[in-house]
Amino acid sequence: MGVMPGFVDPAPALRESFLAAVAEFRDDRDHPVPWFVGDVDPAALSDPAAFEAYVARVLGERTEAGVRAGFVPMTTLWWADGARFLGRLAIRHRLTPALREDGGHIGYDVRPTARRQGHATAMLAAALPVARRLGVSRALVMCEVTNTASRRVIERNGGVLIDVTGRKRRYWVPTG
Ligand SMILES: CC(C)(COP(=O)(O)OP(=O)(O)OC[C@H]1O[C@@H](n2cnc3c(N)ncnc32)[C@H](O)[C@@H]1OP(=O)(O)O)[C@@H](O)C(=O)NCCC(=O)NCCS
Repeated sequence: MGVMPGFVDPAPALRESFLAAVAEFRDDRDHPVPWFVGDVDPAALSDPAAFEAYVARVLGERTEAGVRAGFVPMTTLWWADGARFLGRLAIRHRLTPALREDGGHIGYDVRPTARRQGHATAMLAAALPVARRLGVSRALVMCEVTNTASRRVIERNGGVLIDVTGRKRRYWVPTG
């Protein structure tokens, strides 16, 4: 019996599994490479000290003091089943004009070998009360018009369609 999957804070102990997942995302032919994958240098992060620094930076992004220029504070959570990293989700604490058009409050990614097992649906459900505690009463969540899986994740979590632009479907998802 494995451990029930759930959110954990980013942690150095998940380094090997996280890096294996990054390699899977890079090889994924079904979806574009997620932002967080493009944001890391896997070769450099195989060094435990560098990985610890990465984890510290991601945790630091939860406060105004730790964000880089142009970013708003964001809470990144990892979805894990014991020692196995399965996916990640990030909650931006507030919107900017750019995030209203692209990105929204919440983004999530499930590693290719863990897909179609309900993880993304469960992750978004688990994130809604966290978002609420962060002061987000309704979360803007969006997906590419072609991303059927993400669309289902949002709709299963109560997403109410706002509009469909050329590329995106945008939803409000109530957090309470
Ligand atoms: C989109 C993504 C997060 C879905 O993760 P997942 O854990 O496989 O999703 P779930 O298992 O919760 O499946 C959600 C629903 O989509 C369906 N689904 C999953 N993959 C699918 C696919 N490739 N084609 C069609 N439907 C699919 C599931 O059957 C399920 O439907 P149901 O609600 O009727 O049961 C994952 O594919 C992913 O990480 N993609 C790359 C990054 C990305 O697109 N992130 C979202 C950005 S908005």
